[in-house]
Amino acid sequence: MSLFCLNSQSDAQQKKDNAETKILVAYFSCTGNTESVAKSISKATGGTLYRITPKKAYSSADLDWRDKNSRSSIEMNDDNSRPELGGEAIDMNDYDTVFIGYPIWWDLCPRPVNTFIEKYNLSGKTVIPFATSGGSSINNSVKQLKKLYPEVDWKEGRLFNRGSKQAEEWAKQIITK
Ligand SMILES: Cc1cc2nc3c(=O)[nH]c(=O)nc-3n(C[C@H](O)[C@H](O)[C@H](O)COP(=O)(O)O)c2cc1C
Repeated sequence: MSLFCLNSQSDAQQKKDNAETKILVAYFSCTGNTESVAKSISKATGGTLYRITPKKAYSSADLDWRDKNSRSSIEMNDDNSRPELGGEAIDMNDYDTVFIGYPIWWDLCPRPVNTFIEKYNLSGKTVIPFATSGGSSINNSVKQLKKLYPEVDWKEGRLFNRGSKQAEEWAKQIITK
């Protein structure tokens, strides 16, 4: 059998594997940056797009990081804060790979993302974090997530502050690994 045959066989198998992998692209976003990356990842992978929606939406006053009494400051200062979620519930049994996207808040993921992870059983699932930020890296937030949820099979996370094209390529590549 020629090398060409072998290659096309494995390409076909790869396509089949991708089709059988059920992908969720869950994201939290307040000002649209992470949402736009999440949409690109969903488009590139065929994954179901899911917005992590807090029961009470964040106002711009809530997001004021310069105000130590703003909602986001109070929540991020409290390790145990788990803001309640609204929105539609999902059946996590339908998915085996979950992208989770969020803006970096105080070098971490926003607390509603913790609520989401704790609400749905992600143990044994492949979870791939991605984030946007004003400049901070994703590293500390991923380190924290791995520490809090060791039962999850975490893949390396990526920050996307420069457009969504890169995110599409990365997402397609990471699901075949
Ligand atoms: C409460 C709060 C805290 C933030 N903390 C950080 C931070 O520690 N480092 C950083 O680079 N950006 C920080 N940012 C900026 C956001 O990560 C950035 O604007 C992000 O792209 C917003 O995503 P979104 O549009 O999906 O909500 C913070 C923003 C807010 C509202």
